Amino acid sequence: MRQLARCFKLAAETGPRLTRRRTWPIEGADHWPEGRGRQLTEPQTIAPEQDIETARRVLGQRNLVFVGLMGAGKSAIGRLVSQMLEIPFVDSDHEIERVSRMTVPELFEAYGEPEFRALEARVIKRLLKTGPRVLSTGGGAFMNDTTRTMVLNSGLSVWLKADLDVLWARVSKRDSRPLLKTANPRQTLSDLLDQRYPVYAKADVTVPSRDDDKDIIASETVMALARLDRGQDTVPIS
Ligand code: S3P
Repeated sequence: MRQLARCFKLAAETGPRLTRRRTWPIEGADHWPEGRGRQLTEPQTIAPEQDIETARRVLGQRNLVFVGLMGAGKSAIGRLVSQMLEIPFVDSDHEIERVSRMTVPELFEAYGEPEFRALEARVIKRLLKTGPRVLSTGGGAFMNDTTRTMVLNSGLSVWLKADLDVLWARVSKRDSRPLLKTANPRQTLSDLLDQRYPVYAKADVTVPSRDDDKDIIASETVMALARLDRGQDTVPIS
């Protein structure tokens, strides 16, 4: 209920129209069914339909590229945004794993970070050639000068910006990040944040990522893209 109240609050602030995520279980339904249980009566998406259309138009044939530190939610939010915009989603780490038939930790282990970075740059270069789609990238991808230039020139980039506590709470649950296999992984993450945030800030749009409903953050992303069309500030919430 708290989530629903927040959805309506934000919808009230941004406009009257609620819209459903496209995975809504009732195909073709154009109204909220009544009295059929929580799952079917709650709106899952709060971006106004008009903003979704504008965001699609702003993106055109480009890729929407999510950048940010590990744990920022690039894949989860990216996937939701791709559903809202009804365009395909691809995760560059998954694509690297698919083409190499190895996991990211295995690639780091077997070939080291420089080889992983070279492969990452090649994969992203290829993915950027066709669109539109949502492309979620590994945290180091945008740090590569060539990749960043390609993303800035041919895509539309979104930095999901989160603070250290949020990132750490998420990444410390899994030990799948090779860069965090250090004596003090929290400090390592903090150092990466210091190094990388000035570079991530070059992205076209910045969206705060925090412990909130993912649908809300995805909607804020779509609304931020729509604001680009109106030439407004790209940061939706401070
Ligand atoms: C990395 C982030 C990882 C993955 C690799 C390197 C980084 O992706 O690409 O472990 O340099 O920050 P996520 O950001 O999806 O965790």
